[in-house]
Amino acid sequence: MPLQHPRIHTFDDYQDAWRRSAENPEQFWAGVAEPFTWRRKWTSVLKADLVGGHNEWFSGAKLNITENCLDRHLTTRGNKLALIWEPNDPKTRQIRYTYRELHQQVCMFANVLLNNGVEKGDRVCLYMPMIPQLAIAVLACARIGAVHSVVFAGFSATAIADRVNDAQASVVLTSDGLNRGPKQIPVKRVVDEALESCPSVRRVIVVEHLGWPVQMLEGRDVWYHDEARDVSKTCPAEEMDAEDMLFILYTSGSTGKPKGVVHTTAGYMVWADYTFRNVFQVRENDIYWCTADVGWVTGHTYLLYGPLLSGASTLMFEGIPTYPDAGRFWEVIDKHGVNVFYTAPTAIRSLMTTPLDNVLSYSLDSLRILGSVGEPINEEAWHWYHTHVGKGRCPVIDTWWQTETGGIMISALAGVSPIKPAHAGQPLPGVQPVLLDQEGRELEGNDVEGYLAIKAPWPGMIRTTYGDHERARQTYFGVYPGYYFTGDGARRDHDGLYRIIGRVDDVINVSGHRFGTAEIENALNENDYVVESAVVGYPHDVKGQGIYAFVICNKPVAEGEKARVEASIIETIVAQIGKIAKPDKIQIVSGLPKTRSGKIMRRILRKVAEGETSNLGDTTTLLDPGVVDEIIRGRK
Ligand code: WTA
Repeated sequence: MPLQHPRIHTFDDYQDAWRRSAENPEQFWAGVAEPFTWRRKWTSVLKADLVGGHNEWFSGAKLNITENCLDRHLTTRGNKLALIWEPNDPKTRQIRYTYRELHQQVCMFANVLLNNGVEKGDRVCLYMPMIPQLAIAVLACARIGAVHSVVFAGFSATAIADRVNDAQASVVLTSDGLNRGPKQIPVKRVVDEALESCPSVRRVIVVEHLGWPVQMLEGRDVWYHDEARDVSKTCPAEEMDAEDMLFILYTSGSTGKPKGVVHTTAGYMVWADYTFRNVFQVRENDIYWCTADVGWVTGHTYLLYGPLLSGASTLMFEGIPTYPDAGRFWEVIDKHGVNVFYTAPTAIRSLMTTPLDNVLSYSLDSLRILGSVGEPINEEAWHWYHTHVGKGRCPVIDTWWQTETGGIMISALAGVSPIKPAHAGQPLPGVQPVLLDQEGRELEGNDVEGYLAIKAPWPGMIRTTYGDHERARQTYFGVYPGYYFTGDGARRDHDGLYRIIGRVDDVINVSGHRFGTAEIENALNENDYVVESAVVGYPHDVKGQGIYAFVICNKPVAEGEKARVEASIIETIVAQIGKIAKPDKIQIVSGLPKTRSGKIMRRILRKVAEGETSNLGDTTTLLDPGVVDEIIRGRK
C-alpha cells in the first residue's frame, strides 16, 4: 500500500502544521515529500538564499512528475476518471479519460515528441485551445523532460513571437482553430504569422480540432494524428533532477517585457499537491472544476498538476461562462455533479449582472466548496457567490497567490479555517508573510497595512526568470533584501487575517490578467499616430480594473477624427498583445503631467481616471500644471 499523504482536517491540525513548518521547515517538508514516487531521495531538503534568489528544494533527488501524476495512481485509481472535458458547445460530445487512459494518451504524445527530435531540456511552446490534447501535451513534455511554455491562446502573433524567442523554443504545438463561445478563431494562422520571426522553431505539431483547412509548411509542420498513428502506448519517464526546469510561464511585471517565470520539478510538485489537497479538501469521489485556462498559472497548478498529483477527477471546460447563455457554468455543474468549484471574481461579477434566474434554475446540489482566485473579490460578489451559487452552505475560500509562488499562499482551508468575506485569511503551512513599511521594516501586530512580503522560502517559489537571473533577483529579492517581495499591498486585520488590497507596482489586473503599464505603453507607442503614452488602471465593475490610456498624437486630432484614431490605436494593441489588453478608455491629450525631471506623475493620471479630480494633491512641482486642467476637461 503506498504511503498516505497527510491531510489537515481541523483548525488545530492547521495551527500545529503551521508551527512545525516554521520551527523546522526541513523536517516538515521532508515529511510532506516522503509519500511521492522518487527515483532517488534528496540529499538536502532546502538550500535557502533570499538575497541572491538561489533557492533549492530537495536537491539531489531524482524523479519524474508524471510518474507522480499518473503511474503511481494506476494500481489504485486506474479506472477512476482523471480528466473530464466539457466542450464549448453543450451539444458536442464530452470526453472522459480514466487515469489509465490519460496515462496512455500522455505516453503516445510523448512518443510523438521524441520522434520529432524533442530532447530533455528543449523548450516547447504550446499555443492551444482548452482541449484535452493541451493537458496531454503539457504532461507529455514533462514526461520526456522537455520544458513547457504555455502561451494563452488569446495572445497575438507578436506576443507569441516574443515568448518563443525569449525561450528559444524549438517546437510549437498548436491546433487548426479554437472555439470561444459563438466564435471560431484560426489559431494556426496566428502561429504562422508569429513564426515568421522565430528562427529557433524547426517543428510545428498541429492538433486537429475544428477540422479547418490550414497551411502546412513542408518540412516544418506535421499533423498530430499522422504522427500518433503507430506510436507505442507506453513511454518510460525521463529521470529528472529535483531542480531541473519543469516549465516557463510568461507574466507581466512593472517593466516593459514580460518575464519567463521558471518553476522546477520537485518543489513545484510538492507544493502543487500539498496546497491542492489541503485548501480544497477534495474527497476521493469528488468532481473538481477549475475554470482557469491552462495558459495561466491557475490552469497549470489547479486544473492540471495539483488535482492529478492528488488523484482527483478534474474537469476542463473549453467554453466561456455566457455561451450559449449565462447559465452555462451552473448547467455544467449540474451535468457533471461538480463538488468543488474554483473560479475568478470577474466571472462572478459578470454573471451577477445577468438575470438571477440563470443561476436559480439549476439545483447546484452537488456543490460543497467554492473558491476564488486572481484578484480581490469584493464583498458584493462574495455574498452573491455564497448565497446564490453555494446556497449559503458552501464555504467560499479566497485564495491569494501568484505565478511566481507556484501555488496558493494565503487562504482559508475549506471547512477547516474561519472565513471572512473578501479576506484571503491565513498563510498556508510553510508560508511566512510579513507586512513591510516603505523602509522595509516589519510591521508588528494586527490592524496594520503595508507591502506584502514573504520571509522564508517555500517549495513552490520561483527559481529564476528565464535567461536573466539578475532580473528575478532585482524584482523579487532585491527590493527588500532577505524577503521575497510580492508587489501587492495587504492589510492584517484585528484577527490576524490578511486582506489583499492590490498591486503597489505598475501592474494592472484586468479580469485576473496581469499587464505591466509599461508593456501596454510600449505597444501603444508602436502606433503611427502615437508619440507618447501613459497607461493607468482604474476601478471597473466587472473586470476589477480597466485600462485607461492617455496618448499624445503626432498632430492635433480633430473631434471628427478621434474615433478613427482610437480604432487604429486599439488595432495596434490587439496586434501587439491581444484582445485581452484592449484599453477601455483612450484619451488623446496634448501633454502629460511631468515633473521637471521628466517623470510622468502617474498618481495624477490615476486620480483623473478614477474620477477623483477634486483632490489631486500637490501639482506645483509639475513642469506645466496647465496640462492637468486640460486632461480633467477631456476625461472619459
Ligand atoms: C492578484 C494568479 C487579491 C495579486 C494566481 C497578485 C489576488 C496577482 C488574489 C497575481 C486574491 C491573485 N486576492 N488579489 N485572492 N489572487 N491576486 O500571477 O495582485 O496571474 O499579485 O496569479 O493577482 O496574478 P497571477
